[in-house]
Parts: sequence; structure tokens; C-alpha cells
Amino acid sequence: MKGKTLVISGATKGIGKAIVYKFAKNGVNIAFTYNSNEEAAKEIAADLESKYGVKARYYPLNILEPDEYKELFKKIDEDFDRVDFFISNAMIYGRAVIGGYGKFMKLRPRGLNNIYTATVNAFVVGAQQAAKRMEKIGGGSIISMSSTGNLVYVDNYSGHGTNKAAVEAMVRYAAVELGEKNIRVNAVSGAPIDTDALKAFPNYEEVKQKTIARSPLSMMGTPEDMAGACYFLCTDDAKWITSQTFIIDGGTTFSTKG
Ligand SMILES: NC(=O)c1ccc[n+]([C@@H]2O[C@H](COP(=O)([O-])OP(=O)(O)OC[C@H]3O[C@@H](n4cnc5c(N)ncnc54)[C@H](OP(=O)(O)O)[C@@H]3O)[C@@H](O)[C@H]2O)c1
Repeated sequence: MKGKTLVISGATKGIGKAIVYKFAKNGVNIAFTYNSNEEAAKEIAADLESKYGVKARYYPLNILEPDEYKELFKKIDEDFDRVDFFISNAMIYGRAVIGGYGKFMKLRPRGLNNIYTATVNAFVVGAQQAAKRMEKIGGGSIISMSSTGNLVYVDNYSGHGTNKAAVEAMVRYAAVELGEKNIRVNAVSGAPIDTDALKAFPNYEEVKQKTIARSPLSMMGTPEDMAGACYFLCTDDAKWITSQTFIIDGGTTFSTKG
């Protein structure tokens, strides 16, 4: 993995941050994006470089404007000589999801469309740009983050859940068409993981307790659990794994405990 390059959206905190640390620890150079939190991005890049001796650069990106990926990849081309891995991780919250995050009867087209743009369109445009670079080096691995809220009911999550289902389907289509270029495409889907995004849920404490109660392992997942799955999917140990959704849920999706 040493000397390869990961491009990932939204690595200032939560799962994205855990992913960049996991890859950098293993010698992978990192190109990551931030949206509002430039200060955190700066600190993370400096920390990765000093702790692990890799190259780390951060760039602004708004996934509500997926075409920004085109300029972003041109900048990445100036800083890095190759792109091996791409992870579509960033997700919107707050004002942008009004009308998209809520009960079914409160859903509104604008909020739902924003979530589609941030989830599916951003994955498509980012993965297209990444695939063009991967093709030149003989292959690569692309991942979209997903969540088990597309398989089991989660309060207020219909907008996100349906778009995670959509991006998983898009992953399978991309996998079939990019396989001939030796590019593998998968989704990593998590049950609730303790991050700021989850803390933004009004019923955060309840979700946390329910997740622990339902898991046969009686614990909550961490950003590092998601990072480990992403890392595995980028190694040669996963060289025949494509078009899959890798579910990291502590057994919660099937379990009826709790
Ligand atoms: N947490 C969970 O329970 C859970 C479970 C399963 C799957 N997931 C998925 O895992 C991924 C990461 O989730 P997380 O919980 O780690 O989220 P998080 O902690 O809230 O981090 C979100 C990231 O996205 C960036 N971001 C926010 N708005 C953006 C925008 N408009 N354009 C570009 N970037 C933007 C943020 O950057 P700034 O800080 O710079 O604004 C931040 O780096 C998401 O795809 C999520 O659906 C999460």
C-alpha cells in the first residue's frame, strides 16, 4: 500500500478522519476534502505528515456541486502522481437536508434532491474522475459509504435511506462497467456509528442505546470499524471483491434483540 494515493471526500471528522489515519498509518498518501472546517483539515494534514511520513493535502469541495470534482482532480494531479483509491464519504446535514431528513409526510422535493445530489451524483462524478486516473495505472478501488438505514427502518431517515439504496445500486453498475479496467467498486455500509452526524439526530441517545441493545456484540460501532473495512477493500486481499456492499453493523440488521 506504501506510496499509493487515496482520494476521499469529507475527512475532517468522523468516519472520513478515521479512514485517512488508517490509510496513512500504512504508508498511503492522502488527498482529502473539507467543506466548512478548513482549520481541522489543516491540522489533520500536518499530523498525518509528521506521524506517518506520508504526503497529505486538503482541498475544499461542496458535494452539492458535484462538478467541483473536475477542478479538484486537476489540483490533485498537480500534487500527486497517481490515484489508486477513491472513497465517496462526505455527507450533508443541517439546512441542506431540510425536507429530506424527517418523517415521510414531511418530505419535500428540494431536500430529497439535495440528498440525491450529495449521495449519488457526488459519487458518480467523483468516481468518474478517479477512474480516469486509475485506468492509467492499471486499476484501483472505489468505495461509496452507505448505511443500513436502507435495509431497516430508522426514524426520520427515509431521505437518506432511499438514497443510500440508490448509491449501492449505482456501485453495482459501475463495478460491472469498470471491471475491465481492473477497477473494483464496492459500498461499505454501517449501522449507526458514534460521530457528529449521529449526534445531529434529535433522538441521538435513543439511537445509541437501541443500537447497543440490538447488537449481539452489545456495543456501538466506531469510525475505526468502518475504516478497517475500507482499508481491506483497497488491499490485494480483496482483489476479487467487486460490486458488493460490505455491511459493518455489529449484527444489528438481522438481530431482533433489544
Ligand atoms: N455516523 C453514522 O452513523 C454512519 C453510519 C453509516 C454510514 N455513515 C456514512 O458515513 C459517511 C461519513 O459520515 P460521518 O458520520 O463520519 O459524518 P460527519 O462526522 O458528519 O462528517 C461529515 C463530513 O462531510 C463533510 N461535509 C459536510 N457537508 C459537506 C458538503 N456540502 N460538501 C462536502 N463535504 C461536506 C464535512 O466537512 P466539514 O467538517 O469541513 O464541513 C465532514 O468532513 C457518510 O456518507 C454517512 O452517510 C455514517
